[in-house]
Amino acid sequence: MTELLASDAAGIARAAELLRAGQLVAFGTETVFGLGADATDARAVAAVFDAKGRPHFNPLICHYPDADAAFADVEAPELALRLAAAFWPGPLTLVLPRRITCRVALLAGAGLETLAVRVPAHATALALLRAVGRPVAAPSANRSGQVSPTTAAHVLEALGGRIAAILDSGPCPIGVESTVLDLTGRRPFLLRPGGTTREAIEAVVGPVQLGVTPATAQAGTTLRSPGLLVSHYAPTLPVRLAATEVGADEALLAFGPPLAGAGVDFQLSGTADLIEAAANLFSGLRALDAEATRLGLRRIAVMPVPDTGLGLAINDRLQRAAAPR
Ligand code: TXA
Ligand code: MG
Repeated sequence: MTELLASDAAGIARAAELLRAGQLVAFGTETVFGLGADATDARAVAAVFDAKGRPHFNPLICHYPDADAAFADVEAPELALRLAAAFWPGPLTLVLPRRITCRVALLAGAGLETLAVRVPAHATALALLRAVGRPVAAPSANRSGQVSPTTAAHVLEALGGRIAAILDSGPCPIGVESTVLDLTGRRPFLLRPGGTTREAIEAVVGPVQLGVTPATAQAGTTLRSPGLLVSHYAPTLPVRLAATEVGADEALLAFGPPLAGAGVDFQLSGTADLIEAAANLFSGLRALDAEATRLGLRRIAVMPVPDTGLGLAINDRLQRAAAPR
């Protein structure tokens, strides 16, 4: 049963309590409804991908009550400070490098070194974020492939029964998503047009580049779908998929009862639980890659993961990690 919460003090307190307990809560912002999860809780973030039914992991936006809270998790160059002063709270998302001390689970950023952060211009959302006291990862609260919801009724229709609660703060005033601006390159890149116009941004920071991200520009490809193509994390060691046996010169990424004989192993989920495996995927792959490299092993062997539920997104990412580079 999905609880429908009013946007009063009691509703906000209940929503915050659920989020702090690792549950999923949809909430209104000035742009669209977000499907929120405690961004520091990898399992809660995995549950977001599961509820949305996404066939791949794409990086999520983390929401904060103010710029100071956001910039505690990401590095903010002078340009970011100026944009935050001009547009926050508001429909502008900034992509910035994660700080070493960043509390956000790697899965929320799909394993990237960067993180998208924003401060929504919405009284209820800000009250909720203050009450949670942790970054809240929130993609639009629709099922994968559907349009972004702008009312609680839309969210209920798409995700009712799959999430703990919906905080009903009325229709979203803007109705299109936030503008996503990547500040990690030499010049600002507009990854997704949205509620803050390019003209308004350029009035503050000068020319903004469109259409390609630094990562896709390097790869020589143009961006087909703004904001969707981002560079992917890949381990340094080669990856071998669907392993049914393993050698002593290999590291094992295990799923379920582990194969014997590996040089070192990391367990995604001993009970073959896909949400647990998704929550562990990026941190586990990184740790295993570093340890295997230190031990002088030759590659990472990955046990098969079923193509059901979150397994689809896990396999999508493992296939990218195994692709020849
Ligand atoms: O208005 C909005 O932004 C809404 C409300 C709920 O805040 N959220 C939203 O989230 O639209 P989502 O997950 O549907 O879209 C996030 C966008 C995607 O296009 C994603 O690729 C991009 O932001 N993005 C997130 N993190 C990124 C990163 N580290 N690098 C590049 N792009 C990123
Ligand atoms: Mg979306």
